[in-house]
Amino acid sequence: IDNTGKAADRPLIHATPDSGWMNDPNGLWYDAKEKLYHLYYQYNPNDMVWGFPLCWGHATSEDLMLWKNHGVAISPARNDSGVYSGSAVIDYNNTSGFFDDSVDPRQRVVAIWTYNTPESETQYLSYSTDGGYTFQEYEHNPVVEFNSTQFRDPKVIWHEETQKWIMTVALCQQYSVFIYSSENLKDWTLESKFTDSGLLGFQYEAPGLAKIPVTKATNNNYTLEDNSYDVKNNDTEYMWVLFLAINPGGPQGGSFNQYFIGDFNGTTFTPFTHQTRMLDFGKDFYAFQGFFNSPDDSSYLGIAWTSNWQYSAYVPTYPWRSSMSLPRRFTIQQYSPTPESVQLNLNSVPVLNLAGDDKPSESRYALSNKALNSTANLTIPIEGTPTGTFEFTVTFACNSTTVVNTQSADLNFFLKGSKDQTEYLRLGHNAQAAAFFIDRGNTKVEFVHSNPFFTNRLSVNGEPWSQDGSYSIYKVQGIVDVNILELFFNEGSMASTNTFFLSPGNFIGNIEISSSVDGVYSILDFDLKELDVV
Ligand code: FRU
Repeated sequence: IDNTGKAADRPLIHATPDSGWMNDPNGLWYDAKEKLYHLYYQYNPNDMVWGFPLCWGHATSEDLMLWKNHGVAISPARNDSGVYSGSAVIDYNNTSGFFDDSVDPRQRVVAIWTYNTPESETQYLSYSTDGGYTFQEYEHNPVVEFNSTQFRDPKVIWHEETQKWIMTVALCQQYSVFIYSSENLKDWTLESKFTDSGLLGFQYEAPGLAKIPVTKATNNNYTLEDNSYDVKNNDTEYMWVLFLAINPGGPQGGSFNQYFIGDFNGTTFTPFTHQTRMLDFGKDFYAFQGFFNSPDDSSYLGIAWTSNWQYSAYVPTYPWRSSMSLPRRFTIQQYSPTPESVQLNLNSVPVLNLAGDDKPSESRYALSNKALNSTANLTIPIEGTPTGTFEFTVTFACNSTTVVNTQSADLNFFLKGSKDQTEYLRLGHNAQAAAFFIDRGNTKVEFVHSNPFFTNRLSVNGEPWSQDGSYSIYKVQGIVDVNILELFFNEGSMASTNTFFLSPGNFIGNIEISSSVDGVYSILDFDLKELDVV
């Protein structure tokens, strides 16, 4: 089965396993010969919860929206063990010697992963000579070991400047990222350690280094000179980012992805500051990994697991658990979190390619320039039979001169169930708090109420995207896919990813927009596209 069909209550444009358990994305690479994206993932095909033997599952996609599953790609030699998280590289120049001319250079895939046994965690290589569908283990594994049971998640990149492979791997419970280099993927030299930085939580997991392009936000005129950092070169076209997951111990509870922006010289990663930055403000965005390569160099492409170790084993889906996020394109941009500061930030934009013949068709609803008052609600129907899968974009203004502090001034979007409107998501903005809110608790699904960690109410602080006199203007893009809500604020300067669970078949069927007060909020623009997957 693949997810191009309308399987009941299964996300349509997010990767899920046919059955069984899924966690972290692994081994992301792009086959430039076949024009195909490859996703591997932590997979227990035998159960709907995490467990041994743990494998790498495999899925492919042409458009990063619709995924086709291919089952198990790598499995462990022992039943009490796991092929834990890791990455894949394309060894174009056959530095490893695993390949001969029969394998197209664009398909010379080497997977680097952690072999977890009760005795140790060590780093293994496997390679594929059939374009990533089956793998053989290197006969002299492991290639990196450290006498630890908590040493995992190798992410390997090609460092152009020094012409070397670079591996980051976490010594998890000592809060250290080890950085190794290699010329052949087999022999590795420890170059440096990145230690005790950012939020520590219980453990570091899934680190990853990436060189990420710097782009300009459409709403600002900052230049790099305004920056509070010591950025030497005004023509900087890219910066280095170290992604680092921690679990548990995230600010929103449980699993959390942070990142650091800095420089990497082939041996050492030097962050510009030790400030922790949040990759996503939601509850369900973990173990982020970037693609080794992609056809578009103007941004960095990556995927995260949309769940949280606090409750992932109990979410009410059947016969599978968990999904991936939509792939996102990242660039570094300056933004202003306060009127007096300019900061660097990873900007994220979802990959949502609705154009083209073989892509989901769209139906639209558009609205513009509508001032809201407390007595009239706007209802936006989702045309036809709801699939539960749609995108909306909204630009709204908040008039600060009309806000009185005695009454909470909210803008609300109620995303209501098509069969039972008493089940809904509530999203919106509050003028006094100057923050967005998300409430996923209005449902009859028992899990949502009984699970002590499935936080219902979340928030995201955000400066206006732009200011026009007393009008603060905000933009929100939302993608709803059956039980996943991904929100992007102010063209991607912040994101919040959260799963939600309504009763089976009760897909979101209309959106009601309202305000608790008169004359504060107005909708400048609202646009809805339904993803009518056939
Ligand atoms: C992160 C993680 C990794 C590990 C994998 C095991 O979610 O704990 O550190 O490799 O999952 O499935």
